[in-house]
Amino acid sequence: MKSVFVLPGDGIGPETVGQALRVLEHLQKVGGLEIRLSEGLVGGASIDQHGVPLTEETAAQALASDAVLLGAVGGPKWSDVAYHLRPEQGLLDLRKAMGLFANLRPATCFPALVDASSLKPELVEGLDIMVVRELIGGVYFGEPRGIETLADGQKRGVNTQAYSTHEVRRVARVAFELARQRDGRVCSVEKSNVMESGIVWREAVTALHAEEFSDVGLSHMYADNCAMQLVREPKQFDVIVTDNLFGDILSDAAAMLTGSLGMLPSASLGTSGAPGLYEPIHGSAPDIAGQNIANPCATILSVAMALRWQLGRADLAECIETAVNGVLGDGLRTRDILRATSGAQAVSTSEFTDAIIRKL
Ligand code: IPM
Ligand code: MG
Repeated sequence: MKSVFVLPGDGIGPETVGQALRVLEHLQKVGGLEIRLSEGLVGGASIDQHGVPLTEETAAQALASDAVLLGAVGGPKWSDVAYHLRPEQGLLDLRKAMGLFANLRPATCFPALVDASSLKPELVEGLDIMVVRELIGGVYFGEPRGIETLADGQKRGVNTQAYSTHEVRRVARVAFELARQRDGRVCSVEKSNVMESGIVWREAVTALHAEEFSDVGLSHMYADNCAMQLVREPKQFDVIVTDNLFGDILSDAAAMLTGSLGMLPSASLGTSGAPGLYEPIHGSAPDIAGQNIANPCATILSVAMALRWQLGRADLAECIETAVNGVLGDGLRTRDILRATSGAQAVSTSEFTDAIIRKL
């Protein structure tokens, strides 16, 4: 039996994960889904209990499972903890420990939400982009890093952006393979006009393409241009592959094209067969935590990604996606996607999930 390790985390994480678990439990009852669930602590929740954002036991448990479902980490409550012990570090350490080098962030526009986007409907209708973000390299992990005090008393903060051929090739491979199942186009994004790491990135992607993926279309774009193109004409993209920091930024922009960060799931994958990490991309949203108003879709759709990519139940993944689309089609909205859509009905986190479960 497959096992899913659940890390609700902080802020709205426990609420949206709680709803996703209701969906999973329902599928266990009616969908013939056989999984074993266990739960642990990460981020601020782990700091409160253990003094660190990720314990070795938790990391080991994650590695021993088939898939990890994570809510979100962080919040103002932990703004005073030491920098290397902040909640976000728990997530970064978990990604590293699990070897999750490829972060898949789909930005798909649900038909019922075309009007919720800040862009004109015709620009986002039918939008279906997959951002593949490198997740355990680049400036997030590069050495040297730190803050030093200069002779004149000023401070100097240092981070290092570095990529080796191997790190680029393994994430580019994921992007090319995904493109083969989609529209067959990859856009590789870096800034090789100013960064040596960008030159290595572009060369490695180009070489892998020539060796193994010449059936896939490959284009290159500088990251600043990509940011501009995403808001100018987003439908030009199929798969975008980019580094850790550019991927962090561009995936937020791509996500918002679809109407709300609250809609979008993600999957982080390592070598084939290793457990993946599934999480909404929205973060902990401390300002709305504990009010039962958060959008549960991103977490529930992350469960769908886990079912498809890791748990061998693509059929159930499709059921979830159809149910979410159906509930939106019925006019139900959590507050984050209510704005700008007329005639829709505001519902709570749990009411939205009730409706999804009814559809299932
Ligand atoms: C994300 C988040 C994280 C990141 C933070 C919480 C560390 O913004 O998953 O996009 O920067 O990777
Ligand atoms: Mg981010």
